Amino acid sequence: MKKSIVLLPGDGIGPEVTAAAANVLKECAREFHHQFDFQEHPVGGTAIDLTGTPLPNATIDACRKGDAVFLGAVGGPKWDSLPVGKRPESGLLALRQGMGLYVNVRPVKLLEPLRGMSPLKPERLGDLDLEIIRELAGGMYFGDRGHSTEAGKERSWDTESYSTPEIERIATFAFARAENRSHRLCSVDKANVLASSQLWRRTVTAMSAVYPNVKLEHMYVDNAAMQLTLKPSQFDVMLTTNMFGDILSDAAAALVGSIGLIPSASFGSGAPLFEPIHGSAPTLAGRDSANPIGSILSATMMLRDAFGLNLEADWVEQSVVRVLAGGYRTPDLVAAGAKRVGTAGFMEILHEEMQRTLEHAERYGWGV
Ligand code: IPM
Ligand code: MG
Repeated sequence: MKKSIVLLPGDGIGPEVTAAAANVLKECAREFHHQFDFQEHPVGGTAIDLTGTPLPNATIDACRKGDAVFLGAVGGPKWDSLPVGKRPESGLLALRQGMGLYVNVRPVKLLEPLRGMSPLKPERLGDLDLEIIRELAGGMYFGDRGHSTEAGKERSWDTESYSTPEIERIATFAFARAENRSHRLCSVDKANVLASSQLWRRTVTAMSAVYPNVKLEHMYVDNAAMQLTLKPSQFDVMLTTNMFGDILSDAAAALVGSIGLIPSASFGSGAPLFEPIHGSAPTLAGRDSANPIGSILSATMMLRDAFGLNLEADWVEQSVVRVLAGGYRTPDLVAAGAKRVGTAGFMEILHEEMQRTLEHAERYGWGV
């Protein structure tokens, strides 16, 4: 298979975790005889420093032409004083918008060797394996916003708005996802307060007639946050807005041990985008301390969901779990008795484990 992959390392730990993902993709290409061509472009603060804008035209043009895009992270204290529309984060939002990405899938799954890392008691944690389907192109992130000064008083506002087609297209994706999992869908909103949420709930409810084999449930976002903490295993596929999805996915990530573990995939009209959900973690940058797992699992989502390379994705995932089972932990996961490794050390051990897993699979088959 021949694919062209655009890498956008970005800021902070972004370059380190992007290198980790690229390494794994290269190893897949080598072992399974694919041709992955990589090109790298600046985004975020790095792009501001280089070109004066967080999303240069050359970057978005390359992303539109690629088969898949991988992004590390954007943002950092150096650019914190810039106004909202000029910050590194606005480059990421413009990229999502410019590529027509309206679906963001965030799988939050407990990796068994990390059970003890959860802040929840084991009996509460259960078998946590859920997916947050976050609307990515609308809502408060892209609604009208403004700023005024009147009688010496400043006022700023952001608007949450959704149209029926915007809700329908993300809900269609979520219903289909639920059909392929445990046939349960929980739509999260704030319909007791927000007009946009009332339309959201009405639209999703109307659509459920088309998916009689999916059991639809609605939940207010405040309750959903509480239920995630009390009994996360009650959830399978969660559907929600851009803003609520951003918040709930960080909360859900904490339950499995670290936000550094969670990957994501975004889909729309063109090439898909893959990125770990964590930020640029400026305090960890350049210190060989970043957890590369969220990034590596984003690469496996690319293999599976963009290229249909399931075997390759299984290979990488199984190897990651085996490294964790061997007790190796990056600093965000260190507990008593763990073997502490940096980003580079983790990648070395993962490489050895991938080779071992491959030999084992060649001899005895997959699915171990
Ligand atoms: C995320 C991040 C981004 C978001 C930021 C960096 C703009 O928090 O992907 O969850 O809010 O979408
Ligand atoms: Mg976020």
